[in-house]
Amino acid sequence: MEKPIVIGLAGLGTVGRGLVRILAENADVIRRRIGRDVVLKTVAVRDLAKQRGVELPAGTSLTADLGELVRDPGIDIVCELMGGLSAADTLIREALAAGKHVVTANKHLLAERGQELFSLAHAAGRCLYYEASSVGGVPVVQALKESLAGNRIVKLTGIMNGTANFILSEMTSGGLDFEDALAQAQALGYAEADPSFDIDGVDTAHKLVLLTRLAYGQHYSLAQLPVRGIREVTRTDIEFAREFGYRIKLIGQVRQVDGMLEAGVFPALVKYTYLLARVGGNYNAVRIEGNAVGPIMLHGQGAGELPTASAVLADIMAIARDACAPNNTGFPENPLPEAAIQDPEDAESQYYFRFQVADRPGVMAAITRVMADKRISIAQAIQKGKEGAADVPLVIITHEARTRMVHEALAEIDAMDFVVAPTVHYRIL
Ligand SMILES: NC(=O)c1ccc[n+]([C@@H]2O[C@H](COP(=O)([O-])OP(=O)(O)OC[C@H]3O[C@@H](n4cnc5c(N)ncnc54)[C@H](OP(=O)(O)O)[C@@H]3O)[C@@H](O)[C@H]2O)c1
Repeated sequence: MEKPIVIGLAGLGTVGRGLVRILAENADVIRRRIGRDVVLKTVAVRDLAKQRGVELPAGTSLTADLGELVRDPGIDIVCELMGGLSAADTLIREALAAGKHVVTANKHLLAERGQELFSLAHAAGRCLYYEASSVGGVPVVQALKESLAGNRIVKLTGIMNGTANFILSEMTSGGLDFEDALAQAQALGYAEADPSFDIDGVDTAHKLVLLTRLAYGQHYSLAQLPVRGIREVTRTDIEFAREFGYRIKLIGQVRQVDGMLEAGVFPALVKYTYLLARVGGNYNAVRIEGNAVGPIMLHGQGAGELPTASAVLADIMAIARDACAPNNTGFPENPLPEAAIQDPEDAESQYYFRFQVADRPGVMAAITRVMADKRISIAQAIQKGKEGAADVPLVIITHEARTRMVHEALAEIDAMDFVVAPTVHYRIL
């Protein structure tokens, strides 16, 4: 049997613990698949005294010095499972410079500084693998890099944050308000104490930057990606969406339009017959449309101890099998070219509008006049008044419209004296 592949692990939190467990539990399967053992030599953490709830294998040492992982010539792969930017960035750079391969689950770091880190890995001839960093246990990185490599990717659409999807699912099926659904997600351990990355769409944006790179071989900078989260989604809109046959989901999407990329993170109405609308609870899914393969869908757990560790381990095993062929982005160019980005205001989509308006004659006519001026045509509309209420919701589903026109129309309509609250608008998939 070939000599063991030796791991230095940084971080023994949720994912690190999962990796330790799965390495022990599946040791025989791993050995059979790669023809060698995976040995965990050293684990680095911040606090040596903390109870970990997991037993390290005999012979594995625990250290508070990250440098040990880099300096030890016996370590082949440094596994960065700490998260955060600064310490992880330094560790990865030093590990690559020391000739080690790196496996990371750190989407934030790769979304912010991936261009540079992938170039460093390329120059060093080392693997910088990151299956776990994009949609956790769902093997979308490898699918794009290898299995779908022969396709031109037409469109990639995903539900990529389990916390946001759990909250929206609870609001939809349990009739909860946003705040109650968030509290429930926190009580179940799905949401962090500070859930802003999840519910403001930032986490989805990190993943979308990584997947855009793999799908199109272009660098779409995080700063340029339009991002809208789910804090403003209300039960009222979820109920109206349902009446029209849609569910509201937090979507990350990138597609090619006229040779440019149109991408964004936004809550959208998804037709209930679509598979994406049926992705419930904390599950994730990514739908990829290739020009040869057509649409495919990957569905599973995007986070959690064992699902995420499953992806980390797959990267370790890929390196163990084929250590001399690093292919970090799926494209040999380094750094990747900057993406040609379509102005988000030029994006075309169907839209959902909910106007809150005074219940008086002429309102519908005034609204439709502005919409006609902006070439936005109406597909469906409903108005629901309550007996004696001074104002009523008026909901309109449009045909495809240009985002710029939508913004101009809503600005004009919201300035009219019969509008009592800013108009709610969402894209429709
Ligand atoms: N959790 C998930 O489901 C999930 C899913 C996909 C991707 N990820 C990514 O996986 C990574 C790890 O996430 P996690 O949830 O496992 O994090 P976590 O539970 O907070 O664990 C982080 C671990 O890293 C250690 N650490 C942090 N800074 C360190 C430093 N400067 N030096 C040494 N050790 C340090 C911590 O040590 P102490 O324990 O001593 O404090 C802890 O053991 C993140 O990049 C995250 O985005 C997580």
